[in-house]
Amino acid sequence: MSEPVASRRTVLCCAAVALAGATAAGCSSNNSKEQAKSSGPVDLGAASDVPVGGGKVYREQAVVVTQPAAGEYKAFSAKCTHAGCLVNGVAKEQIQCLCHGSRFAITDGAVLDGPAPKPLPEYKVAVQNGQLQVTK
Ligand code: FES
Repeated sequence: MSEPVASRRTVLCCAAVALAGATAAGCSSNNSKEQAKSSGPVDLGAASDVPVGGGKVYREQAVVVTQPAAGEYKAFSAKCTHAGCLVNGVAKEQIQCLCHGSRFAITDGAVLDGPAPKPLPEYKVAVQNGQLQVTK
């Protein structure tokens, strides 16, 4: 009678692994799109779209641009370092991921509240003729 118990455990274990794999695969499919678009400077449009003390998420480019102080722009990967969700937006001077509640600083992408384990990777950002150019 111990054989069926072991089989049930095996099934449960495999189901958990499959579920985890499906979640990871769902996140990594977004990563593939991001990586495919990660060469050269990317034009994100008018710098004036990014509010002072706030930021804007460019979902298609998987980039979040912030403006901690007037004329000071920062760009980060919008891919949360916890499980790969794209961050949702910027509020109260924090970049927010609503998947599991991580929050990051608009000044340097540092983790303000987990479960994210690492800061958001920073990208180069420049403003030319009022247009944001980000280099990943
Ligand atoms: S993926 Fe962002 S908090 Fe989990």
